[in-house]
Amino acid sequence: MAQVLVTGSNRGIGLEWVRQYAAEGNRVFATCRHPREAIELRALAERFEKVSLHRLDVTRTDEINAVAVELLSEPIDILVNNAGIYLEKYRDVGLNRLNYEDWVTTFRVNTLGPVRVTEAFADHVARSKERKVVITSTHMASIADIAVPGAYYYRSTKAALNAVMEGITHELKNMDIALLLLHPGHVLTRMGGTGTSLMPDKSVEGMRILVDQFTMKDTGRFFRYDGVEMPW
Ligand SMILES: NC(=O)c1ccc[n+]([C@@H]2O[C@H](COP(=O)([O-])OP(=O)(O)OC[C@H]3O[C@@H](n4cnc5c(N)ncnc54)[C@H](OP(=O)(O)O)[C@@H]3O)[C@@H](O)[C@H]2O)c1
Repeated sequence: MAQVLVTGSNRGIGLEWVRQYAAEGNRVFATCRHPREAIELRALAERFEKVSLHRLDVTRTDEINAVAVELLSEPIDILVNNAGIYLEKYRDVGLNRLNYEDWVTTFRVNTLGPVRVTEAFADHVARSKERKVVITSTHMASIADIAVPGAYYYRSTKAALNAVMEGITHELKNMDIALLLLHPGHVLTRMGGTGTSLMPDKSVEGMRILVDQFTMKDTGRFFRYDGVEMPW
């Protein structure tokens, strides 16, 4: 059985990572910004005794460090960096319609967040058996994918995430930790999707197969949930 930590686990794809790993009897450290309000996550923790809830906003070093200290004696086999925001979903963005504060906020969550979390938990991962870090990227991070205007905050912060994680891959290799970048697909959550999108369970089932299969020889590669390699 593995020990897994998930960020942004109170809803959407993050909640599904917790549900699936918990259902198989794994130990899951489910982190989110507001554990008390995380109704569905709390229900999972009541059902599965190996699920625990931890307060962790990925922009807050104090909260990240508090969880890292709380879990000091726990190895983490799989660190799932899932939390993310896509503010353009709610706001029209384009030249003369840019909100630079929103852009910086997006950068703090989507780019610096996974870096802060990976930095804080790298030693926990290094002490585990599986030693895997998952980065939740998106096809929208691929510069080759840009055919229309817009989504500048989201695209640029996820492209920056890919770039920094490619670099960090080389540091993690020295700790015998493998890092996988994943695009979950177009998934029906509050952030994404339409009626024809994937449901979170199918996306996470696919991503978990990739997580199971990938080894150090694949570190730094970028795949869609169904195993198709993504362009940079
Ligand atoms: N859905 C898609 O089609 C799709 C496609 C490609 C990539 N992705 C990526 O998949 C990941 C999950 O997305 P989703 O579709 O599940 O979105 P979602 O339903 O909007 O969930 C986003 C999660 O991130 C959390 N979060 C936001 N800011 C946070 C912060 N500062 N600290 C900690 N947690 C924070 C949210 O918590 P709160 O409830 O507290 O806000 C929520 O749990 C994201 O990284 C997203 O970019 C999604």
